[in-house]
Amino acid sequence: MNSSELRTKFLNFFKSKGHAVIPSASLIPENDPTVLFTTAGMHPLVPYLLGQKHPEGTRLTDAQKCIRTGDIEDVGDDTHLTFFEMLGNWSLGDYWKEDAIKWSFEFLTEELKVPLDRLAVSCFSGDDDAPKDEESAKIWESLGIKKERIAFLPKEDNWWGPAGKTGPCGPDTEMFYWKLNDEPAPETFDPKNKNWVEIWNDVFMQYVKDENGKFLPAEQKNVDTGMGLERTVAVLNGKENVYETDAFDFIIKKIEELSGKKYNEDPKSFRIVADHLKAATFIVGDNKGVAPSNLGQGYIVRRLIRRAIRFGEKLGIGRKNWLADVAEIIAGNYKSAYPEILKNLDFVRFEFSKEEEKFGATIERGIIETTSEITSMGHLTGDAAFRLYETYGMPPELSQEIAREKKFKISRNFHTEYGIAKEKHQELSRTSSAGMFKGGLADASEQTTKYHTATHLLLAGLRKVLGDHVTQKGSNITAERIRFDFAHKEKMTSSQIKDVENFVNDIIKKDLPVYCEEMTLEKARELNAMGVFESKYGEKVKVYTVGEGDDIASREICGGPHVERTGILGHFKIQKEESSSSGVRRIKAILE
Ligand code: ALA
Repeated sequence: MNSSELRTKFLNFFKSKGHAVIPSASLIPENDPTVLFTTAGMHPLVPYLLGQKHPEGTRLTDAQKCIRTGDIEDVGDDTHLTFFEMLGNWSLGDYWKEDAIKWSFEFLTEELKVPLDRLAVSCFSGDDDAPKDEESAKIWESLGIKKERIAFLPKEDNWWGPAGKTGPCGPDTEMFYWKLNDEPAPETFDPKNKNWVEIWNDVFMQYVKDENGKFLPAEQKNVDTGMGLERTVAVLNGKENVYETDAFDFIIKKIEELSGKKYNEDPKSFRIVADHLKAATFIVGDNKGVAPSNLGQGYIVRRLIRRAIRFGEKLGIGRKNWLADVAEIIAGNYKSAYPEILKNLDFVRFEFSKEEEKFGATIERGIIETTSEITSMGHLTGDAAFRLYETYGMPPELSQEIAREKKFKISRNFHTEYGIAKEKHQELSRTSSAGMFKGGLADASEQTTKYHTATHLLLAGLRKVLGDHVTQKGSNITAERIRFDFAHKEKMTSSQIKDVENFVNDIIKKDLPVYCEEMTLEKARELNAMGVFESKYGEKVKVYTVGEGDDIASREICGGPHVERTGILGHFKIQKEESSSSGVRRIKAILE
């Protein structure tokens, strides 16, 4: 049985029991600011679980897109997935334990033909918040599940919810499938035995957790169930993991094509690329304004994409713009179950390509530099990770991963250190943005940031071609152009203008890194940084350097921001050179 067969079977079965089939809600929660993504089928239904009337009635069923980001770093093993589908059925104050359990049993044994012998269940063992769930156990027994196959477990195992910080929750009963084909299931169910795979969960939502962490009896008693589609398909087909099912095989095939490698050569990298790009495709494909960024959901997308690029790199996928092609086959594969992804494919392709360009240009070098920096430090601190992020765009999680791979220690206070470094940086950019108009930078959009870096290169070029008497007299940057005033007496000749253009374009072509350091003014002077030396003695300044080692193209005291590498600037062109005032010339230039 493949995924779409299971999905259809499930929905039809519950339809036959009087349930309305409703469409999946978006992955971006609409009413819950406490979580980033929809993590379970019940999540979009919270208002109805709390008593609002649902237009489709009191019995619902659906296949819901879900994202769980708690363990992105664990993805690649047999069990963790970022994106998955959850099949579910709900009673909104309608049926209760008896029907819920009876239908679960019927679906498993009659529709999916799971032999009784391969089934086990767990029920809530009870605590101060709620009593032991003897009722569920009795129902299971009446259906034919033996006592030895029923385990009673505490809250950590047999309680579900709320999905966010507050909301509906309650004890649950979980169903397990014995996954081995060549070894019969033991008589007694041992929940610690990993060959028992949890496939379905019936939650009896009779409590509401409040702000103070108290469990209050719910006014409306609901049933909420969830079956992980991919995992269930895998075990029913006797597969070791979800990547060997139709939920992933088409992506794996595409990655084999792109990399020229076989899945078996490096399953972990294949899995990570497949999982991450699928998750990112579904998130961006919802078209709810979430795209790679440094904040919230966007940051998760950025992490997923960058991690996929990194592992794609490991597999030897060198070709540019491959992410969008993977997204396309994912969208195509899910066109009947989730048509919105294909509908929004242009947006997904655009965002993937943009992020790939942003990160792809620096990734290889970033990984090399990060690895060598961590190696030379012998361990990884949060400060260092922040610097690596600032310099190469390495997400801190990637730096941690590289450190772990190389068996280097990571500071115990990594997150605190990272937070402090980031805070310091933000403070600095706030300070510097207060003075940004001074530098002529009116905003920090991507285009003006590019122009800002180009201005540094222009000044360096003018000094190279005309001489060291050239200093900056003023600069004014918009998203359309640079206007730059500098000390120089004569009109520039057309060959001087060409030489300056060539100088700048050469640096762009070399794709040099641009990095920022904080230092005292004295130190900046020692390094021959250009800039205004008006600050007080001992004051710290930010110095931006373009290039490294013997190949320093420019070094200036500056508030930033700047691009990470010169390669993305495009082509530099001087449009006009004219007199501005006595002894001062003015250049208008663009990037095209
Ligand atoms: N909400 C329950 C779960 O996610 C069904 O397992």
